[in-house]
Amino acid sequence: MTLAEAKTVLEANGQGHVLKFWETLTSVDQEALLAQIATLDFAAIKRMQTMLQEAGTPAAAASAFEPAPVEVPEGSTLEACVAKGEELLRAGKVGVLLVAGGQGSRLGYEGPKGAYPIGPITDRSLFWFHTRKLVGLNKTYNTRVPFYIMTSDTNDAATRAHFEENDYFGMPREDVYFFVQGMWPALTPEGKIILDAPGHIFMSPDGHGGTLAALERSGALADMAKRGIEQVFFFQVDNPMVEIADPAFVGIHAAKNADMSLKVCKKRDAHEGMGVVVVRDGHYAMVEYSELSDEQMERTNPDGSLWLAYGSPAIHMFSYAFLKAEAERDMPLHLAHKKIAMVDETGAIVKADKPNGYKFEKFIFDVIPNAKTLVNLAFDRTQEFSPVKNAEGNDSPATTKRDLQAKWRGWMDVAGIAAPEGMAVEIDPAYALNAAQLKAKGLQIG
Ligand code: UTP
Repeated sequence: MTLAEAKTVLEANGQGHVLKFWETLTSVDQEALLAQIATLDFAAIKRMQTMLQEAGTPAAAASAFEPAPVEVPEGSTLEACVAKGEELLRAGKVGVLLVAGGQGSRLGYEGPKGAYPIGPITDRSLFWFHTRKLVGLNKTYNTRVPFYIMTSDTNDAATRAHFEENDYFGMPREDVYFFVQGMWPALTPEGKIILDAPGHIFMSPDGHGGTLAALERSGALADMAKRGIEQVFFFQVDNPMVEIADPAFVGIHAAKNADMSLKVCKKRDAHEGMGVVVVRDGHYAMVEYSELSDEQMERTNPDGSLWLAYGSPAIHMFSYAFLKAEAERDMPLHLAHKKIAMVDETGAIVKADKPNGYKFEKFIFDVIPNAKTLVNLAFDRTQEFSPVKNAEGNDSPATTKRDLQAKWRGWMDVAGIAAPEGMAVEIDPAYALNAAQLKAKGLQIG
């Protein structure tokens, strides 16, 4: 992009101030600023401005909702789901999508969260455990499951380097597809793009909902089409307990011809901070924790169970066709009022002591109302969910390691492997993906 082009497009969109300090910049900074301007999506910025204008007007009262039905398949129904999922895995029709673009600020780890050492014995990383599960799937089903990993500008290079240093954890490297999520600017209350330095636009990631646009833009969707992928398993980077593309989940989703499916688990307690899947005005929807009243969270059924018993930890299946259709639509925006250091009239950088700007994000669950068929599959959280979110306390490395050990010890019990009390255990997912595979190894300790 040339300076003249930048001027034209900025002025046409009421953002001419972005070039205010142009004359004072070094040629390197000028080049970098032009590159940033070239990435601006003015249609999205227009939507942000409209949202800001409407922010003061009272929202329409949300209509009533009911919890969405939850499937708990058992016996021959479960067996049929597993068989269907296995058939799709064997046929190479299943892909895996990981969102790992977040900043992991609560954990406070230097580097991508996926590189965090979580192996109780080996200190192997979250990425190691995730990728070894794909290696295990490839072996089990004699297939090639492609792995699509979304990073962000801040962690893309470090993520790729982590995979390189570890020889892709045994995955064929041509089956690992990195793509970078979008970044966009923040706005002042007046809808102006914020500069955080005289030659630099403040940008932040566009949220995990940005996955869809990034899949399309990066060519990842085209890669899925080329490989004949029909179903895509989606998960987040922080949960090493996740059962990646487990056949029951893949199978129930495919058998019901669902656009999207969600794994849901019983909430720890009425106030656990998880979104819930509901039916509202004839559509499925996710109601975020922050939107629920105490009364809604605490309401019980006649048998004493919670009315909103199940929460979503963002473990999903998507049909390829639904992902493709959704990638072509605009997603709703969510705004957050934040403290952002920005330059003043003179070009000096001023720190904020109160929120002074707006960041915008897209959330993946906003596609839910567009799903014609959706399945909520209940799962046992003790086996599949223990995320690393915080440095300490609940959902921290200590609780995740504890839960991993309990899960693996359960497998060892099934396999008849006695490990002394207190001995740390760790299982490579490519060695055994589940208790049955471990048992089949006939391993003994001692
Ligand atoms: P979280 O909401 O837990 O955010 O992301 P985070 O960035 O990991 O951690 P905090 O909130 O800063 O402590 C849930 C999942 O969504 C991904 C994250 O990488 C994680 O897998 N994510 C989040 C993105 O890929 N992009 C985003 O912009 C935000």
